Amino acid sequence: MLKVEETQPVEFSSALIAKLDEVVKRYPEGRQKSALLPILHLVQAEYGWTSVPAMDKVAEYLNIQPIEVYEVASFYTMYFLEPKGKYVLEVCRTGPCCLVGAEKIMQHIENRLGVKEGEITADGMFSWRGVECLAACGFGPVLQIGPEYTFYENLTEQSVDQLIDDLKNKDLRQ
Ligand code: FES
Repeated sequence: MLKVEETQPVEFSSALIAKLDEVVKRYPEGRQKSALLPILHLVQAEYGWTSVPAMDKVAEYLNIQPIEVYEVASFYTMYFLEPKGKYVLEVCRTGPCCLVGAEKIMQHIENRLGVKEGEITADGMFSWRGVECLAACGFGPVLQIGPEYTFYENLTEQSVDQLIDDLKNKDLRQ
């Protein structure tokens, strides 16, 4: 995953542009702005977060004003407007999940990773944060990890430890 500084200009790779073109093709001619949400997801997956230079590049690519990108990216919480770890553990912190231990799970993640909510581990691999209902209320506590938004349900401290170990091992193999 690429990382960019806030002020560093962004140039999309030809591979990324091919993916963006594929998305834009799904929309009627002249309605390319409708592709903004999936385009932002692809750009965030490429860079790990949605920086201002990346949003400016999206605006240029879609031939719209930068403010049109900023207002969308800052409205939806799935777009990260600041750097995050490679894996962001997003734990549901809404009532039903809290009733079955979500707060304990978040505390465990904080202790296990050694970083507070929103921070990045020293190796750059992990961040975590609490999010609102993930619509899996019958399977709490639950967390999701982007960019595919894979769900992990019925969490326990042991299953969270296993998940973190699996992600670390997966990364070592890449
Ligand atoms: Fe946690 Fe709905 S309350 S998924």
